[in-house]
Amino acid sequence: MQDGGQDSRQDRVSPRRERLHSFIGFRLIAALAIIATVGIGTAALSVYVFSSYGETVSDLVAIESGRQADISRFAEVATGIRADMPRLVFARSTETRQESRARLETAVAGLADLLERIGRTLSDELPGSADLAADLPQALAADIARIDANVARHLEIRQQVDALVVRLNRLHDEALREIEPLIVDTDFNIRVALDALEGAAPAAEGAAPQTELLEGELSFAETLWSAHAHVNLLIGKLLRVAQAQDRDVIELLRQDVGEAVAGTGDMVSLLAQAASTVTLRQALADIARLGAPGGELFDLKLSEAALAGESAVIVDEAGDKLDRLSRLVSGAVASAGRRSVEAAASARDALARGTVLLLGLGGLLAVVALVVGWLTVGRQFIPRLSSLLKSMRAIAEGELDAPVNVTGRDEMGQLADALRTLQGRSQLARRRRLELVEINERLTHEIGERRQVEAKLLETQEELVQAGKMAALGQLSAGIAHEFNQPLAAMRSYLHNARRYLDQANTGKVREKLEQVSDLVLRLADTSNHLKTLARRRTREAASCDPVPIVLRAAELFRMQPGAARIAFDLPQEAGGPMVRADANRLEQVLINLIGNAVDAVEASEAPRVAVAVRAAGDRVEIEVADNGCGIAEDVLAKVFDPFFTTKGPGRGLGLGLSISYNIVRDFDGSLRFAPAEGGGTRAILELHRADEAQEARDAAHGGI
Ligand SMILES: Nc1ncnc2c1ncn2[C@@H]1O[C@H](COP(=O)(O)OP(=O)(O)OP(=O)(O)O)[C@@H](O)[C@H]1O
Ligand SMILES: [Mg+2]
Repeated sequence: MQDGGQDSRQDRVSPRRERLHSFIGFRLIAALAIIATVGIGTAALSVYVFSSYGETVSDLVAIESGRQADISRFAEVATGIRADMPRLVFARSTETRQESRARLETAVAGLADLLERIGRTLSDELPGSADLAADLPQALAADIARIDANVARHLEIRQQVDALVVRLNRLHDEALREIEPLIVDTDFNIRVALDALEGAAPAAEGAAPQTELLEGELSFAETLWSAHAHVNLLIGKLLRVAQAQDRDVIELLRQDVGEAVAGTGDMVSLLAQAASTVTLRQALADIARLGAPGGELFDLKLSEAALAGESAVIVDEAGDKLDRLSRLVSGAVASAGRRSVEAAASARDALARGTVLLLGLGGLLAVVALVVGWLTVGRQFIPRLSSLLKSMRAIAEGELDAPVNVTGRDEMGQLADALRTLQGRSQLARRRRLELVEINERLTHEIGERRQVEAKLLETQEELVQAGKMAALGQLSAGIAHEFNQPLAAMRSYLHNARRYLDQANTGKVREKLEQVSDLVLRLADTSNHLKTLARRRTREAASCDPVPIVLRAAELFRMQPGAARIAFDLPQEAGGPMVRADANRLEQVLINLIGNAVDAVEASEAPRVAVAVRAAGDRVEIEVADNGCGIAEDVLAKVFDPFFTTKGPGRGLGLGLSISYNIVRDFDGSLRFAPAEGGGTRAILELHRADEAQEARDAAHGGI
């Protein structure tokens, strides 16, 4: 009763209260929530720190690599400009000049874009980077324009110098064309004069003019050769002047050429003696004029040298500008690189600090986890759980009185309550089990005793059955003796008659009598067989058998009795009807009892009649033994199957017939019942299983009963 009350109290705990009492769950959830919050915070912080510093570093890398790319591009463009400027300076044609200028202008425009970009990224390192990006390309463009103008002028001068060189070459050719015939003529005159001198006597009158003439020719020839050499020398010097580029070289040549030009004047004066040298002198004078130190050639060459020098200066200035710019940009990039390195170092330091912070937070998290774990699990959970486990183990090992010390309203406390309830129930169950064991032992003892009684009873029953059979046999023995005496008397009579007929040699009659004897012998044998069968102990085997011959055999026993002569037996005539599952001997025993009872019942009847019918009813076979006897009263009917119940007088009945029959029929899994017959009397209805054909075949194969 107490347990039931506790159960009902526990059943009444609402889910809401259960949730409220779920302290362990709450504490664990709270502890896990704290740990999870700290863990998530740490993770979020680490993600933020590492991603922000990662972005910083990647930005630095991108900026630095962009700067490095710009620097190398700047160096490339500057080198291109440096290389293209001399090409412009030394351009020898207008096409080359224009091409070089266009390339330089493109490079300068590219440089302007590059400087603008560099200036943007290096605004801290290059404070005036915007001006620089605007000024330097403009200055370079102006330099290029100046160089281009110089080169244009230079090309014009060169054309003029080339024209002068052409003129000088022509004058040179002209002078040589004049000198060479004169030299040939003079040679001829000299040979003639020499020939004349060789033919005349040295002291002769005409020898003196010939000598003068010869001297004059010789002198003229010398002048001509000098003029020839002089003009070649002068032209050679002037052509060197035309080729010279350096101002100092030109100045040196001017002095040299000045002396040569002065010598040309003397030469012209000498040649002036001969009238045939007019053209030659004119050519020499023209050459001297063109090549004079203050003349056109030197003017042009000095202008050309001046232009070249000016261009060289402009190129140097442009180179200086590019150098200065290179240094500026390189310095700025180096400074920016240092700042990038510093930024990277500061990012690394920050990451290191972040790592230390994260480690600290991780340690804090571990400490929090340990403290929370110790508070919730170590102090609250484990000692109580251990105590509970100890109690459970003790109870499981049979110590049902072991104390359960854990208390509380949480799950552990509820578990302890449940364990206490279980303990109470187990104690109750143990008490009940002990009682049951006691009862069981008692019952086992009683069953043993009953089994012994039953075995004894069975034995007694078997003996009683046998005794019943013997009693029936005893009762029948008078009738049997009568039956045996009758046939024996008849046989004696038949044999006597047969002997007589044999003496008369009436073989037909002898045969007839012998056959009658034979029939009687057979009948006696049958009777003998019946008695053997009745005396045999029962067997429990049921087989397939035809009930009709069994009925006839059983009825035959009674028909032989002397008192049975007036009884009309109505018996089944045909064998081969439905077969039944039964042991033939025991079935015969049942039928003997039933027919015997019917014969006893009709004793006082006026027209006694006993009818036995065999009929099939579905899978059953009914054997009905009906009589028109005294019938069975209601109170008697309730007891007819009781052993030793009889209404018959002493020496007439033991009251065992129906009891034994009932047991036999039960062994066949059949039934036996009584019903009143129409017009008075009784119907004993025996119901047996019908034997199927397959079973019949098997029984036939085994040779039947
Ligand atoms: N056909 C019947 N008509 C009237 N009464 C019967 C009939 N069959 C049985 N009884 C009654 O049932 C009683 C019990 O029968 P049961 O065969 O067991 O014993 P019994 O015939 O008296 O003696 P036993 O058979 O041992 O010689 C009988 O004494 C009788 O009163
Ligand atoms: Mg009987």
